[in-house]
Amino acid sequence: MIQYDDHKKIWVLETAQTSYALGVSDSGTINHIYYGEKLPKLSDYPDAKNEQEWASFTSGEGMSREEFMGWCKPKYTEPCIKATFQDGVRDVVLTYVDHTIEENALTIHLKDVYYALHFKLLYRVIPECDIFERTVEVINVSDYPIVLESILTGSLHLPREKEYRLTFLSGKWVGESQIQEVMVPKTKMVLESRRGATSHETNPVIFLDANALATEDVGDVYTAALAFSGNWKMVVEKNAIDTIKISAGINDFDFSWHLKPRELFKTPAMVLSYTNKGFGHASRNLHQYQMKYVLPNEHNNDLRKVLYNSWEATFFDVNEEGQSDLAERAAAIGVELFVMDDGWFGERSSDLAGLGDWTVNTKKFPNGLEGLINKVNALGMDFGLWVEPEMVNPDSNLYRQHPEWAYHFETRKPTEARNQLVLNLAREDVRQYLFEVLDQLLSENNITFIKWDLNRSISEPGYPSAPLEEQREIWVRHARGVYELVNRLKENHPDVIFQSCSGGGGRCDFGILQYFDQVWVSDNTDAFDRLMIQEGFSMAYCPKIMESWVTEEMNWVNKRKLSLKYRFHVAMMGNLGIGADLTKWTWEEEQEATQLISLYKEIRETIQHGQHYRLLSPRKGILTAVEYINKDLSEVVIFVFLHSNHFMEPLPRIKAQGLEEDAVYYIQGTQLYLSGKALMKIGIEVMLKGDFDSTLIRLMKQ
Ligand code: GLA
Repeated sequence: MIQYDDHKKIWVLETAQTSYALGVSDSGTINHIYYGEKLPKLSDYPDAKNEQEWASFTSGEGMSREEFMGWCKPKYTEPCIKATFQDGVRDVVLTYVDHTIEENALTIHLKDVYYALHFKLLYRVIPECDIFERTVEVINVSDYPIVLESILTGSLHLPREKEYRLTFLSGKWVGESQIQEVMVPKTKMVLESRRGATSHETNPVIFLDANALATEDVGDVYTAALAFSGNWKMVVEKNAIDTIKISAGINDFDFSWHLKPRELFKTPAMVLSYTNKGFGHASRNLHQYQMKYVLPNEHNNDLRKVLYNSWEATFFDVNEEGQSDLAERAAAIGVELFVMDDGWFGERSSDLAGLGDWTVNTKKFPNGLEGLINKVNALGMDFGLWVEPEMVNPDSNLYRQHPEWAYHFETRKPTEARNQLVLNLAREDVRQYLFEVLDQLLSENNITFIKWDLNRSISEPGYPSAPLEEQREIWVRHARGVYELVNRLKENHPDVIFQSCSGGGGRCDFGILQYFDQVWVSDNTDAFDRLMIQEGFSMAYCPKIMESWVTEEMNWVNKRKLSLKYRFHVAMMGNLGIGADLTKWTWEEEQEATQLISLYKEIRETIQHGQHYRLLSPRKGILTAVEYINKDLSEVVIFVFLHSNHFMEPLPRIKAQGLEEDAVYYIQGTQLYLSGKALMKIGIEVMLKGDFDSTLIRLMKQ
């Protein structure tokens, strides 16, 4: 998997289909050589020499394809490390020391040529997913502190091509994960979050394809993602000699890290993938990688349960009687997990008060949580609960006792958003308090699911009691604090599933997914809008973690009315949930929902653990189609959605993908038995009519 050519001083790392080559340059830097389809021989790879200097403004080394560039010399593109030493020198000159190779891991050891600042560039190969993971460890071996002003995980240099298209996910609250495409201009572009969390606005994953030639099914696609849930940054630069450099890591905005003597700082992982089979395959590589290597492995093999969530039905108005009524109705239609949302604790009857006081409101729940949980369990369902641990309302006992626990600058009034402030999770005492209350909640109650919310971004990030030189560390310490807290809770409560929510989809990335089992993708539950949101989400994230609810017929977001079947079909494309007010459902609606939930249970193995194909995009044309195929290619589910008929235009046929060409598949509900090849080449006719119609096609291998 990893070879080293001692003569040329190059390493070649190989996955099943791809290789990544790098080497030591004449000046001791580590330069990128190649990334793409695997080449037959080690001797195929050139050496790692620097570029030639060709103008006084453009040094050869400055143009070189460094994997991890220190800010020094005449180098003007994005550095991975910028630091200040004790004596005021602000120049990091890296040189190669040695390396180690283990089966699937390469560690390259670098150090500054003068100061005792060492770096380990760690490369991990994930062969079957065609993925490379990169991280960096920085170690201060000197007797003095060193200030890290910027520490990214690394850079990736793409093969020189005329042009590249950049595809990324951006959006807003109720409009997350919208696919954006732009040709990379000859300049520097920064995608980032400065909010203290991943953000609704941009997600840390990008795709690049040469000359915009890749489609869903063919073409070279490079993917880079960053596994971090705090302030992050991805930089795409096109330099003077038209090469593209992508750098990713912790955002250096308002950041510095006081690296103490002997301290080690580890960066989040940068995840890289290359495929010549288009965007669909790029996504499937990421999905497979998540399922096997990223998500908490305690729950990897389980199927996610059909859940009910009370938010849109009751908002803050929760009580034992009302929730019990909803629970009875949910159990009757086949729900397996009942989740009570906001409103159950402290003085919480609106968003004005209560956050921070994580004890049950006994006026609403006279028998404690236990009363409701016992009823839910007796109905045969698991019980889940909403919390928002990182937040505090000024109107709460916690804030009255500990105003200093919220981020603030001493001379400023902290700004409230949704009437709340953010707790400083860089503080050990805050993390310990949160651990104790949440651990107690989980120990005293039979709770198997936690919805962990984050309903605002960090502002005024002051930590006045910390040493001045450490105050800008909060951006990293907060994200690490969340990871640590969830990890500790999981150690004590391994059966609990954690859902990451941030006012919808504000916190989903490869970092949070190491701790959280699933994600609330958007507060937008309009099933038509959701098609676009879910399509974007699926570019990077697998269906198993994509929680989606069936809500009211007339959705609050756009006031659009959609049939129950359409709403179910959209929500069934991931991890099915119901979020409607069940007390208002008619007998007919209950019957239809019961059938659809039972159908979902039949097909969810294929949806949650299968391979995912975007057949037709909601952004292009009037039909949307998404296919799921199980591991042994014997069961296929295709969801098809019609936007609106126009001018009696015929609908495109749905051409399946990934089937066994010679196998025969039965199309359920018809008399048709067709070969995999026919289903892929001729496709299936669908009879959808009017506006917002949908159908679900099932194929069974004979
Ligand atoms: C956020 C979540 C919602 C709901 C509310 C509760 O907006 O995204 O699903 O939990 O908070 O206040």
